[in-house]
Amino acid sequence: MHEGKVYLIGAGPGDPKLLTLRAVEALAESDVILMDHLVSREVLAHARQGVELIDCGKRAGHHCMPQEEIHRLLIERARRGQIVARLKGGDPFIFGRGGEEAEALVEAAIEWEVIPGISSGIAAAAYAGIPLLHRAHASSVAFVTGHAGHEHAVGAQGADTLVIFMGGSTILQIARELMASGRAPSTPLALILSGTRSNQAVYTGTLVELARMERIELPTPVLAVVGDVTALADKLHWFGPPPKPLRLLAMPATAVS
Ligand SMILES: C[S@@+](CC[C@H](N)C(=O)[O-])C[C@H]1O[C@@H](n2cnc3c(N)ncnc32)[C@H](O)[C@@H]1O
Repeated sequence: MHEGKVYLIGAGPGDPKLLTLRAVEALAESDVILMDHLVSREVLAHARQGVELIDCGKRAGHHCMPQEEIHRLLIERARRGQIVARLKGGDPFIFGRGGEEAEALVEAAIEWEVIPGISSGIAAAAYAGIPLLHRAHASSVAFVTGHAGHEHAVGAQGADTLVIFMGGSTILQIARELMASGRAPSTPLALILSGTRSNQAVYTGTLVELARMERIELPTPVLAVVGDVTALADKLHWFGPPPKPLRLLAMPATAVS
């Protein structure tokens, strides 16, 4: 039987217009779409009628579909001869587990292609008016995960700008550890909530302000950017409301949510 193909597609950061032309082409060709929860539903407008939709949505703490099951489905559907679109938020190879999926496909000898997407690490910052690199303020940037705590952010201290993914629940600890390991307390930072979406919200302040908070509750998705470039958001913001002060997010330790 004729074998199918898997496209690992980056669906971009949220604004559905940030989908690439290659992604649009691949979606139109696909028989089945496996999508993650951060993918904007609007991008499905490019899928063909009658396409089968499988929601693999993952949220912190509860994985709707285990990664092994996703690998199994991708391989099984391609072996049935289907064209499979694996739609992921941002870019598939930036904290998207796209690398693992590609490895599984190679091991199973399935034809595949990766279609890069605009990562939220780049786009949410840009929509917040933050140039991650800037001749006068930053010559290096690191993308790190805050998922497992502070060690990755601290390990990337050498970079002028830190972009922290999946740091919503660990950000206070990360701020404290960044200071403890040498980053100046006055370092500006920004928290970007739902970047590039119509409900984008940006909060700016300093590392010490965040480190001193007892509790913070952030809706997902949130991207934290640490470094001098974030101070430019006050001047360069162009999308959504202007940045608000970080202290508005502080919650008393005893508050009941
Ligand atoms: C599993 S990672 C996937 C990243 C994705 N592959 C990318 O390139 O953007 C999910 C994290 O990306 C960040 N993120 C994704 N979309 C976002 C958005 N629209 N605004 C802010 N952060 C976002 C958040 O930190 C979220 O916890």
